[in-house]
Amino acid sequence: MSNGVKLRGHNMTKNRLWDKLGKGLTFCHSNYLEISKLSEQKLLIPKMVGFSIPMLGFLLFCCLAVVAESATYLKYKDPKQPVGVRIKDLMKRMSLAEKIGQMTQIELSVATPDVMSKYFIGSVMSGGGTVPAPKATPQTWINMVNSLQKGSLSTRLGIPMMYGVDAVHGYSNAYNATIFPHNVGLGVTRDPQLIKKIGVATALEVRATCVPYVFAPSIAVCRDPRWGRCYESFSEDPKIVESMTEMIPGLQGDLPANSTKGVPFVAGKKKVAACAMHYVGDGGTTNGINENDTVISLEGLMSIHMPGYVSSVRKGVATIMMSFSSWNGKKMHANRDLITGFLKNKLKFKGFVLSDWEGLDRITSPPHANYSFSVEAGISAGIDMVMVPFNFTEYIDVLTYQVKHNIIPMSRIDDAVKRILRVKFVMGLFENPIADDRLANQLGNPQHRELAREAVRKSLVLLKNGKSADKPLLPLPKKTTKILVAGSHADNLGYQCGGWTITWQGFSGNNLTIGTTILRAIKNTVDLTTQVVYSENPSAEFVKSNKFSYAIVAVGEPPYAESFGDNLNLTIPDPGPSTIYNVCKAVKCVVIVVAGRPLVMQPHLSSIDALVAAWLPGTEGQGVADVLFGDYEFTGKLARTWFKRVDQLPMNVGDPHYDPLFSFGFGLTTKPIKA
Ligand code: BGC
Ligand code: BGC
Repeated sequence: MSNGVKLRGHNMTKNRLWDKLGKGLTFCHSNYLEISKLSEQKLLIPKMVGFSIPMLGFLLFCCLAVVAESATYLKYKDPKQPVGVRIKDLMKRMSLAEKIGQMTQIELSVATPDVMSKYFIGSVMSGGGTVPAPKATPQTWINMVNSLQKGSLSTRLGIPMMYGVDAVHGYSNAYNATIFPHNVGLGVTRDPQLIKKIGVATALEVRATCVPYVFAPSIAVCRDPRWGRCYESFSEDPKIVESMTEMIPGLQGDLPANSTKGVPFVAGKKKVAACAMHYVGDGGTTNGINENDTVISLEGLMSIHMPGYVSSVRKGVATIMMSFSSWNGKKMHANRDLITGFLKNKLKFKGFVLSDWEGLDRITSPPHANYSFSVEAGISAGIDMVMVPFNFTEYIDVLTYQVKHNIIPMSRIDDAVKRILRVKFVMGLFENPIADDRLANQLGNPQHRELAREAVRKSLVLLKNGKSADKPLLPLPKKTTKILVAGSHADNLGYQCGGWTITWQGFSGNNLTIGTTILRAIKNTVDLTTQVVYSENPSAEFVKSNKFSYAIVAVGEPPYAESFGDNLNLTIPDPGPSTIYNVCKAVKCVVIVVAGRPLVMQPHLSSIDALVAAWLPGTEGQGVADVLFGDYEFTGKLARTWFKRVDQLPMNVGDPHYDPLFSFGFGLTTKPIKA
């Protein structure tokens, strides 16, 4: 009867039972206590004299009920217990398989409720473009997440999984989400409060689909625009990147005063756990080649690439994702000094470290050449959760073998699991594992679209305005007879959003999500009497033979992501240059560059009247027209150096060979026109 003795300490359980079963059981309970007391004294039989057999049976039933209830009191499930106590209680109940399961993140395409329960999977994620259905509604997402979650909750210990998605510029995989400008544009705003609000909005849109975890923000410091991920970076300047970590309290909520340094914080059901990435030096690779080697001194690494992490940890970031890149020849995924030594021991980061996609495999080249070596190197270095993402049984088997054979010490597994559980407890996942559709209407919320439109306005940089300073072309008049809109990027929602939108590599056209193209925005803005002619790539004759008052030409890069964006020449892709010449030779023109980075502009500059860098503005193209037509003024200042020629690269502000076309911090202004 030791259970019974123990039970007497658990007032809460008793009270709950009383509420449920009422008076009859109070009687039963007092007898139970008596029985248990007596049994300790081995005096059970004499005390029972006087009860009929059915009565005894009933009493026994009551006792069993109470004992069963006492077994369901699990300290780790009690939100009144401190997180540390809950972690400890849960850890001591967990088997090795359950622990390794927590350290496993799989992709949606291989996840089923059965897989969740059979392997105790800790996390599921959507890769770029992986959705439960094309143009999935929030309800479809919710049903999917909840059904996988039920698989996790059906296990012995019922540890909830956490679902993670990419959200580097809003909820990028989700149909109808608000897509904000990519970071390269947000850096221009120099407005951390705006970036924080974008974090708040993004968290709500992600939570609309029941997802509690995002892989964002990217705090890469892109030092070479030839890098295919340069648009995911706020700036070449570490100070700007550091200030933009305000995205984190936006996503996760404000850290309460007096919180312990490095402890993750997520403020409940309208917030999400964030993931600062990619640790560390991803933006500093040689020639801007993705996943390449970052050759730099420790001092350089610490002063350029590290400040964003120091500030993210200070702001309570829940997780940090590793970089595919190397530092001075050593793969970051295997860098114990920087993961365990610096991040965990020195910075006191208490959240968890996530690998990147097949990041362990890529420790060797070719990838997956020696998977046991990779697992050992990555886990020993301090990675806590592995984005496997497909072949999870191989990972689980290899890691299990290594723990059983003392290749990886149990203490390392315990450290990883403790961190993962800490994040899950802190974010309230145990209390609210299953969400409802209460936030569903937050996806694409008009207020978020307004916020994105504001961000677009503030991210534009005016680089040239008129052939001479006393004859500015901008702001453009709304009322005139006829204007021309041209260029591959004028009426292409996919192009203006860039990579990581709906699909991994982004898309072309206007059909895959909801938003406003630049052309639509212009039409919305000009006077009703102004005729807008749109021709994507007009001939010189066509332009000459029409009497346009002026032309707006939007050209730039097609979408790309990761290594597909690496580019050693950075020229405007065809037919961009010929569109510029055909139009600008015949009529006054403003050229809008829609691209993830500065492109070679010097040869074209003299032939165009006005030049605007719009970066990758996202779904709210209206922000472009707001400023072009003077409803708002241009305020953006370059957060990247605009080079003259690629042979100057890398070239960043402060470099001895600095000789840019437009320097870091440059940006002309206009005065708004009062209507
Ligand atoms: C990227 C990460 C991303 C992950 C999941 C990786 O290839 O480097 O930024 O979060 O895929 O989509
Ligand atoms: C996935 C991305 C991932 C990439 C990494 C793609 O297939 O969709 O999420 O970042 O692979 O190579």
